[in-house]
Amino acid sequence: MTSYFSLQRLTYERLPTHAERSTRPPSRQCTPKNFILAGLVLIVSGALISWSVSRLRRAPYNPLDNYQNINIVPVTTPNATHPIPPARRALVSSLYSDDYALAVSVLGHSARTANVSARLILPYLPNQVSEQALCVVRAVGWEPWAVPLILPPGNVGEVYTRFRDQYTKLNVWALDKQMGGIDRAVYVDADTLVRRNFDELFESPFSFGAVPDIYGDWRGFTIKINAGVLAVHPSSAVLEDMLEKMQVAEYPHGEAEQAFLNLYFAGTALRLPYIYNGNLAIKSRNPVLWQRLAEEMRIVHYTTVKPFFPYDITKPFPKPRLLTPEEIEKALEMGEREHDGFFSEEVGWWRTSYHSMMSEAGHVIRGCYGS
Ligand SMILES: *[C@@H]1O[C@H](CO)[C@@H](O)[C@H](O)[C@H]1NC(C)=O
Ligand SMILES: *[C@@H]1O[C@H](CO)[C@@H](O)[C@H](O)[C@H]1NC(C)=O
Repeated sequence: MTSYFSLQRLTYERLPTHAERSTRPPSRQCTPKNFILAGLVLIVSGALISWSVSRLRRAPYNPLDNYQNINIVPVTTPNATHPIPPARRALVSSLYSDDYALAVSVLGHSARTANVSARLILPYLPNQVSEQALCVVRAVGWEPWAVPLILPPGNVGEVYTRFRDQYTKLNVWALDKQMGGIDRAVYVDADTLVRRNFDELFESPFSFGAVPDIYGDWRGFTIKINAGVLAVHPSSAVLEDMLEKMQVAEYPHGEAEQAFLNLYFAGTALRLPYIYNGNLAIKSRNPVLWQRLAEEMRIVHYTTVKPFFPYDITKPFPKPRLLTPEEIEKALEMGEREHDGFFSEEVGWWRTSYHSMMSEAGHVIRGCYGS
């Protein structure tokens, strides 16, 4: 307000008359050379300002602005209001390497503890996962499902190596015709933990639901979805369509399957509340919001801290192998200390579930290591 009024006051200030100007002694600054200099400074700073404004105004990539009509999936599924029996519902995750086996087991255990009424189906890559790891996940009730690797479209080198396996996630859409047939699936990444029952997701009439993403940097809260939790009506026809469209669609390949899903479902996804994908990035961004969500949180997503990973994530990881319970304890200690202990409560949630699993199924899990 103050600046607006002072601006107005300046506008109405009486301008000096020609006579006043000519009677003043010429000031030292008003030499022609200084006028030219001042003009140059004005031109250069004007150019700089308009350049930065145009950069700011150029919108970053957005799947809605870059929408391509490639999606054949109706927003809701016909007759979707029929109740789906638990045998035709599945919680689905993924196991692409042995070092995630214990994390996935804790995830399965947490879903069982929350009485999620669905089968636990675990897609895995047979060439990358050992029998011991499968034994560990079976101990808590996962049904392993060998799936084909789905490679990124085009040049694999474009996608960071750690995302190479991520398109394999799309296999969840094949479940209508696999594993005895599944009508409703909730896919969750291996770095998640179930806190509360989310059976309502299996009753959603919407063909596809996911939670908007959050970034730690200037992008902050976005309308793009995070692919860590997906509520899916499996359909092999949709999978076939996606595999075909993936090859021709134009989207940034750096974010792997998440970028593709964002384009494919940009205009038709049900955007779910944050309690279904409690991304730790929310807490970094807005601890007050996090505190509100924590009371009702169904699924936590350990994005910024991995309490089950005893490695320094800034360094190359050792060759994947089954981690021991002792290494998990070490990972928990590391996670608790990370970011000056900012996530120690959330690491504690995972620790509680891990210990509960080990007291129930620890004897079976430990038996897997010798097998
Ligand atoms: C929906 O239900 C109606 C009546 O029960 C049935 O005739 C129709 O075939 C169903 N449609 C689908 C797509 O299942
Ligand atoms: C899960 O079901 C069991 C047995 O019915 C019950 O004792 C337990 O309280 C339930 N847990 C939750 C989180 O609802």
